[in-house]
Amino acid sequence: MPVKAVVGMQWGDEGKGKIVDVLSADAELVVRAAGGSNAGHTIIRGGKKTVLHLVPSGILHEYTRCLLGAGMVIEPQRLREELDVLEQFGTPRVRQRVGVDPQAMLILPWHKSLEHVREARPDARGTTLRGIGPAYESRASRLGIPLALLAHPELLQTSLEALFLDYAPIFELGQEPVITPAALHAELMEVASWLVPMFTDVSLETARASSEGRTVLLEGAQGVMLDTLHGTYPFVTSSSTVFGGLLSGIGLGHGAVSEVVGVCKAYATRVGHGPFPTELDDDNGRHLAAFGGEYGATTGRLRRCGWLDAVALRKAVRLVGTTALALTKVDVLCDLPEVRVAVAYEDADGRPVADFPCDPYRVADLKPVYRSFAPWATPAPGEPLPDALSEYISFLEGFTRTPVSLVSWGPDRSQTLLRDASGVCRSLDA
Ligand code: IMP
Ligand code: MG
Repeated sequence: MPVKAVVGMQWGDEGKGKIVDVLSADAELVVRAAGGSNAGHTIIRGGKKTVLHLVPSGILHEYTRCLLGAGMVIEPQRLREELDVLEQFGTPRVRQRVGVDPQAMLILPWHKSLEHVREARPDARGTTLRGIGPAYESRASRLGIPLALLAHPELLQTSLEALFLDYAPIFELGQEPVITPAALHAELMEVASWLVPMFTDVSLETARASSEGRTVLLEGAQGVMLDTLHGTYPFVTSSSTVFGGLLSGIGLGHGAVSEVVGVCKAYATRVGHGPFPTELDDDNGRHLAAFGGEYGATTGRLRRCGWLDAVALRKAVRLVGTTALALTKVDVLCDLPEVRVAVAYEDADGRPVADFPCDPYRVADLKPVYRSFAPWATPAPGEPLPDALSEYISFLEGFTRTPVSLVSWGPDRSQTLLRDASGVCRSLDA
């Protein structure tokens, strides 16, 4: 069963783009399941940098087909820009290789306007302002506009009018200029001309490829700690980012998947608001931000940085059923005097807390209990991992009961080692 899934284990930005790029070298199909252009996957190949927000990272492999699943929310203008950039980048046959499920939802200008209104308030969540939350709200209210309606112009018109009934009162309160349903319909008819030909049944294509024994990779977006149910609500995204969310967003049963790789950075970052127990507001934090290049790929915001939270990681492993971990950006910790990992917490009254609380409102009061590790030198291709790094990895493996099967210390393929169960490493192409 050659279906592999890649899931982010923290608050997003774990380096999934590179891991998917590395693991999809021989994949015939790469499939995204949920979220939209709130994601930003940075890939650097041959010195050229591409940031993908919607199209799965596998698109840079010439023979890989890339699918956008029913669980996604898609702003057509962004998709078009991304296809154009990929074409300018010299990527062959982009439009033939990208397929979009007609059940995915459209993000409309109304969704973005509503989010702008909300995020201007004092209780803002720090979202990416891409209209993700409001588009999922529309879906849940049964007033959403699935891409499928682009192929049904009359139904699209009445559906836009119905949705607008919900939005008009909100806009009357604010000063937002808003597009009318009729004008939006005209814009969407132009979108239909290039987007409808890309429609495909993502569930069927994925299941068929899997049953024919072709290599399929499922590409998660965001991270487990931003999961709409299990993250630190309300500071979460609006989709399910756990492995189950991948399956439902695509329309695939779990039996097809043989491996679930959890991507975890050797430290932690978070963008937007919300509790973050291991956050650092000191020179170590600034070091992580500077050497890790921790600026949001989507919004350009400086990411909040902190030590790796192994307690949160253990919860992520439980929620996902991770079969292996990929540890990324280990080089960023190289020049620090020590490396710390949170292994438990104390609450506001000094009582020990062993597990990440399921009550999200308790998380803000937690103080991490750290274990200290010696720093390591940057790994080198073809050489064994530095001892101090091996020790750090063995600790994480024991704590999470999950093997670390891949270690990465830079954006390039050559800066990657595969690790077997006994800790022996080999280069990707060896
Ligand atoms: P939304 O997904 O735009 O609604 O944003 C909700 C929260 O999730 C905010 O804190 C965002 O910064 C965060 N978020 C959403 N997508 C990503 C991502 O791909 N990487 C990191 N954080 C993200
Ligand atoms: Mg990102």
